Amino acid sequence: MKKILLAIIALLPLVASAQQLRADNIDEVVNAMTLEEKCHLVLGCGMHFNDDAKFPGTAGSTFSIARLGIPETYCADSQQGLRMDSKRAWDHNDYFPTDFVASMTLASTWDREAAYKVGKGIGNEVKEFGLDWILSPSMNLIRNPLCGRNHEYYSEDPYLSGTIAAGYVCGVQSEGTAACPKHFIANNQETNRNNNISQMSQRALREIYLKAFEIMVKESNPWTIMTSYNKLNGPYAVQNYDLLTTIVRDEWGWKGMYVSDWNAGDDAVAAMKAGNDMLQPGQDKQYQAILAAAKSGELPMEILDANVKRILEYVVKTHNFKGYKAGNNPNLKVHAQVVREVGADGIVLLKNETSANPSIGGEKPLPLGKNVKRVALFGCTSYDWISGGSGFGGTSVGHYTVSLVEGLRTAGYEVYKPLIGTYTKHIADEEKRLFPEGRPKFSLQPPARADEKQFTADELNNIIAGSDVAIISLGRKSGEAADRSEADFYLKEGEKELIKTVSETYHAKGKKVVVLLDICSPIDVASWQNQIDAVVCTWQGGQESGFSVADVLCGKVNPSGKLPMTFQINYGDAYADKNFPANVDDKTLGAMFMWGRNKDDNKKRAPQANIDFTNYEEDIYVGYRYFDSFDKPVAYPFGFGLSYTTFAYENLTCSIDGDIVTVTVDVKNTGSRAGRNVVELFVAAPNSKKLNKPEKELRNYAKTKLLKPGQAETVTMTVKTEDLASFNEKASAWKTDAGVYTFMICSSANNVEAQATVKVKAWSQKVHNVMKPNVKLNLLKR
Ligand code: BGC
Repeated sequence: MKKILLAIIALLPLVASAQQLRADNIDEVVNAMTLEEKCHLVLGCGMHFNDDAKFPGTAGSTFSIARLGIPETYCADSQQGLRMDSKRAWDHNDYFPTDFVASMTLASTWDREAAYKVGKGIGNEVKEFGLDWILSPSMNLIRNPLCGRNHEYYSEDPYLSGTIAAGYVCGVQSEGTAACPKHFIANNQETNRNNNISQMSQRALREIYLKAFEIMVKESNPWTIMTSYNKLNGPYAVQNYDLLTTIVRDEWGWKGMYVSDWNAGDDAVAAMKAGNDMLQPGQDKQYQAILAAAKSGELPMEILDANVKRILEYVVKTHNFKGYKAGNNPNLKVHAQVVREVGADGIVLLKNETSANPSIGGEKPLPLGKNVKRVALFGCTSYDWISGGSGFGGTSVGHYTVSLVEGLRTAGYEVYKPLIGTYTKHIADEEKRLFPEGRPKFSLQPPARADEKQFTADELNNIIAGSDVAIISLGRKSGEAADRSEADFYLKEGEKELIKTVSETYHAKGKKVVVLLDICSPIDVASWQNQIDAVVCTWQGGQESGFSVADVLCGKVNPSGKLPMTFQINYGDAYADKNFPANVDDKTLGAMFMWGRNKDDNKKRAPQANIDFTNYEEDIYVGYRYFDSFDKPVAYPFGFGLSYTTFAYENLTCSIDGDIVTVTVDVKNTGSRAGRNVVELFVAAPNSKKLNKPEKELRNYAKTKLLKPGQAETVTMTVKTEDLASFNEKASAWKTDAGVYTFMICSSANNVEAQATVKVKAWSQKVHNVMKPNVKLNLLKR
């Protein structure tokens, strides 16, 4: 007996150590877990809004099981920076993560390196502030200019979105922090997002919406992916086995962990079965349902074990599992510099001409000339600068935003002072008018913005006498939980009036007018821009945005940003506009699970288009794929952006070796200022019209280094034969047709600079015939 006891005692540490989680004993730990522990682990532990939480203001955490060495791990939102409260109860310190740039700004750089740097900065702050997992990048396709979360997204093109997201994910994960690309998938509107069904062809799903994620998954291998709220061709995305497992795990080979969007779906057991490993933030009723289903056998144990295993595979990679001692001291100075540089590189110069008033003549308005020393800033946004969007993914954590006034002053300009006072008073008066009871304490939707102040001719003449140039800023802010309305796409009467009077009076005195677009999504520019000399789309550039904008205006930075989406002339021009909730008055439909139209109500009434379901009738013709293929005019095409210098594209070569096409081109700076250039590679398939394919599609891009005047760089880009494929529904296969393909070097979707052809052999690959729409869709065809 004594011997047996001694043997047991000797074995105890071994047993204990076998049960302490390590990277190489996950299966054993899964076996050692009780059913209850498993059911807890697949659920989050609530949101951390209370003051005495470890990380107040963060989105959630994962369940810890101390006896098995499974620590709690922590996640936070980030659209443009780690989102957590800056103050903690019983703690005198401040916690201010960096407010990086809006995703749309990042995409406008067309620079994978920039995406990597921003991702790395955020990943580093997550680590240094003691967390593990960042709920970004958001990378839904920009299907419509009114989607409330566009600023969180990248582009209307899957290749640009996928590659920028991949750069970001690689940056985050280079710090050992988990990234979480979201929202998977086709969550392209906020209106009733928790119940809306996106209905689309298998082709549009594969070629456009899945493609962005597929590129990102294959290039960056994210540790986690967040499934979206909406339904897709029937079931909720979070409960769809074919989507989550058949396509992503079986076809793409992804091995990471899925987490649901917060409270997504309506059937926890179905989510487990679909392969959605973790449900956040976790509800007791989900726990009870999973436990009961596991006990009854409705949820097979091997499925639950697989979910648990993938969660543990994530856990063992985290900082908290590895015992990293966070010092709350990331290098905020270095990150601020990244924000300033990337913010400037994402600015898109749309117009820079003297033609608004030929009598003024002279140099182009930008960069501001040597004779420009005094600047008059018009428009409330000039004094109430928007650095990012709102919502859970929004900004509000940064402890400062460099204003436009500060940026310009630091760059050496005199900002016309009386206007600062005038606008400060006007904005305060407007605040009282708009919010007589004070602003609501918590609102996901952006608060109303002040109407523009108007000026008399006399007032303007005084201002003109004290300034060399007028800068008018127009602002648009949006966020999670509500889409924008059609009216928000157009200028308000007051904005139009301001542009008219300022430009007429300034031009009459021989002075120029520049408009800055501090916007979250495309707006109308076509109807008013002929009155203006220069238009600069600054987007929303985070905490350093005043510096970034000033850097571009004064010419310290030569703009090199390109539009990641089309600027259409009117709302309604894009085919997708037909099927979008552009004018839904009932804003309570906007989105949140607690405020959206509840499911029981839904059952009682006939389904309403664009609220209960949205038909993607434009099919693959999203963004430029529509305007370009159907010859429709636009205000500014996808990929457009001017520079202060000029570039020439010389010595284009295009060759094929096996299944890889290689394109090289010399990009030469032919102007008089140093600058960077984005080289866009579009490809046209043979017989594209006959085969119902887009006129041309973006297949690669590159960004040069800073080229001095006269300097050239040889840019090399490759495209695989399989990347030229389109999805053939009948055969359930990707197919690249044999034939002659045209490879185009472009400076926008509408400007082909050089082209060459290559003969490509056929390629095809069969995939699963899944995710069919269960309604008949009236799809657009060429
Ligand atoms: C948003 C997600 C976010 C989550 C947690 C949801 O409302 O859609 O993007 O990560 O909340 O805050």
